Amino acid sequence: MEMERRRKKRKLCMNPAVVIRTLVVLVILLGFIALVAFLVIRSRRHRPPPVQDNYTIALQKSLMFFNAQKSGKLPANNNVSWRGDSCLDDGNGYLNGLQGGYYDGGDAVKYSFPASFAMTILSWSVLEYSAKYEGAGELNHVKDIIKWGTDYLLKTFNSTADSVDNVVSQVGEIDNSSKEAKTNEGNCWIRPESISYTRPAIPCSTCPALAAEMAAALAAASIVFKDDQGYSKKLVHGADILFKFATKGEGENYAGGSDPPSHYNSSGFWDEFVWGGAWMYCATGNSSYIDLVTKPGLAKHDDAFWGGPDCGVLSWDNKHAGAQLLLSRMRLFLDYGYPYEEMLKTFHDQINEVMCSYLPDSSNFNRTRGGLIQLNHGKPKPLQYVMNAAFLAALYTDYLQAAFIPGLQCGSKFYPKEAFRDFAKAQINYILGRNPKSMSYVVGFTDHFPQHVHHKGASIPSDIKHQNCQEGLKWRDSKEPNPNTIVGAMVAGPDKDDGFQDNRSNYNYTEPSIAGNAGLVAALVALLDKSSPGIDKNTVFYAIPPMSIPQPPPPPPYKP
Ligand SMILES: *[C@@H]1O[C@H](CO)[C@@H](O)[C@H](O)[C@H]1NC(C)=O
Ligand SMILES: *[C@@H]1O[C@H](CO)[C@@H](O)[C@H](O)[C@H]1NC(C)=O
Ligand SMILES: *[C@@H]1O[C@H](CO)[C@@H](O)[C@H](O)[C@H]1NC(C)=O
Ligand SMILES: *[C@@H]1O[C@H](CO)[C@@H](O)[C@H](O)[C@H]1NC(C)=O
Ligand SMILES: *[C@@H]1O[C@H](CO)[C@@H](O)[C@H](O)[C@H]1NC(C)=O
Ligand SMILES: *[C@@H]1O[C@H](CO)[C@@H](O)[C@H](O)[C@H]1NC(C)=O
Ligand SMILES: *[C@@H]1O[C@H](CO)[C@@H](O)[C@H](O)[C@H]1NC(C)=O
Ligand SMILES: *[C@@H]1O[C@H](CO)[C@@H](O)[C@H](O)[C@H]1NC(C)=O
Ligand SMILES: *[C@@H]1O[C@H](CO)[C@@H](O)[C@H](O)[C@H]1NC(C)=O
Repeated sequence: MEMERRRKKRKLCMNPAVVIRTLVVLVILLGFIALVAFLVIRSRRHRPPPVQDNYTIALQKSLMFFNAQKSGKLPANNNVSWRGDSCLDDGNGYLNGLQGGYYDGGDAVKYSFPASFAMTILSWSVLEYSAKYEGAGELNHVKDIIKWGTDYLLKTFNSTADSVDNVVSQVGEIDNSSKEAKTNEGNCWIRPESISYTRPAIPCSTCPALAAEMAAALAAASIVFKDDQGYSKKLVHGADILFKFATKGEGENYAGGSDPPSHYNSSGFWDEFVWGGAWMYCATGNSSYIDLVTKPGLAKHDDAFWGGPDCGVLSWDNKHAGAQLLLSRMRLFLDYGYPYEEMLKTFHDQINEVMCSYLPDSSNFNRTRGGLIQLNHGKPKPLQYVMNAAFLAALYTDYLQAAFIPGLQCGSKFYPKEAFRDFAKAQINYILGRNPKSMSYVVGFTDHFPQHVHHKGASIPSDIKHQNCQEGLKWRDSKEPNPNTIVGAMVAGPDKDDGFQDNRSNYNYTEPSIAGNAGLVAALVALLDKSSPGIDKNTVFYAIPPMSIPQPPPPPPYKP
């Protein structure tokens, strides 16, 4: 037995016929595998495009919120079935009228300040990520949205004049202070389409922060629309006269000042000044603007550097972090040296600090148990701040990538650049449903989202054509879900314990806003599929001529 097995074994090993047969079988097998692999790859190429990922779906929805917020005469195909024309008499007799623009949130007031900020952020996201918007099929949509906003902003002041001495800061008002108050947004719960009372247009003659933010919005949009020269020039001209109005024509010698109190009250001016000036530089390439915003004395006003716990919290009110990132972009990609390097480096160091403060290891901000960063220190309406931070962090990751910088040193630890994108993703994922309530805070995304959004138009059936103010309250106070789904609206958000009251009266949880959604849109597009192209390094700087960079002064003549 044993002998036979051994002989068999030897036979197996030695027999050339067996070896050849084995080889032939192997070759056939390999050929078969290669053929299958080839066919699979080929069939993949011819397969329909893959199912859209969550960020693309969320992006498409979050843009639709702007369609739902449109005021005035709507375009023929606005794609929000329950919205119609509204407030066509806004600003009748004032300049060329004040029709159009966006309602701010659940009410029908049009505030120029947050609307401008929203348009600046949307424009910035288009300038960096137009290829991603295109890939998602949303480039024309987002540009239409920006134009709807800037067309309106151009109506709020005499944009064809050489200078202006006022701008309209809001149309409509919320005044629930007294029984005698005229019918207005504060004592009326009504669809915008049903409004027939006169809405005041409130002009403002001393509002430097508002004017500087409006300048930023028009300047950034002028680059988005650079191929439409007529419109782009109009925007640049408007931005120019607004920026002069903001500083009373005194530029760096301006003493500063605060805007009048309002619902959206800027807490300072110098952040909008630096932000507006940086965008003016991008839109015009005129070096007087970069000279201005890199004046050490100016930028250090109002805690632009190392200032307080809110320094890194970009919002409709606070532009420091946005300005720092935009100016750091110039340092990273334009190779500026003298005389700008020192100040640009200061901005850059500051945004690095800001980025580090977002990381989970930092003690600058608390997080909820569910992981939501508390940029507004536990106060209500957190999501708008979180989304702006997510946008900045994702964008900064792409800047580092484009500049071949592997990461950042935060304190004693080095973080690879992906840490900042991961922060942004974690926050977005929380908002889209990865949270203790398993609730998506973006309406219409997944099947579990807020049903009682604080929004007049969404809460009243659209077949109710006429109603008086008090009749509407029954819709506000109804326990039923909203009859209209306001697709893409990001609500104010959960509280510091990850709790959420889906309660229409409680705007602290359920009210959306255009400024909040702009940050959401920007963060989502920045985080779209990593395999698609990153940032567009050049378009933001398209107006800046390479030769505009002053050279250092020549060395003093050699004296022996
Ligand atoms: C998209 O979101 C849904 C719901 O949160 C989740 O179940 C799914 O895994 C997500 N898909 C991807 C590709 O992330
Ligand atoms: C509405 O949707 C159609 C089809 O997708 C599109 O062509 C059109 O531009 C959209 N309108 C607006 C105002 O977004
Ligand atoms: C805007 O200003 C120009 C130049 O000062 C003036 O001619 C024009 O009438 C103004 N437009 C309006 C609507 O007031
Ligand atoms: C106005 O305020 C009063 C008292 O706070 C409140 O009862 C009423 O509901 C408010 N009206 C609206 C439309 O919010
Ligand atoms: C607006 O800001 C000013 C100064 O920044 C402040 O005194 C005022 O209380 C604020 N008003 C509101 C309504 O927030
Ligand atoms: C640059 O801007 C400044 C300030 O607005 C202006 O005085 C100057 O004429 C501009 N230069 C050019 C070349 O447009
Ligand atoms: C973090 O939360 C604790 C406890 O509520 C609070 O005392 C502290 O001030 C918070 N820190 C920040 C940076 O908000
Ligand atoms: C909704 O919120 C309002 C205001 O905070 C409160 O008065 C009301 O009781 C809440 N309703 C429900 C059903 O929780
Ligand atoms: C919303 O939050 C603010 C700030 O904490 C608070 O003053 C206000 O009463 C809250 N509103 C409601 C309806 O709970």
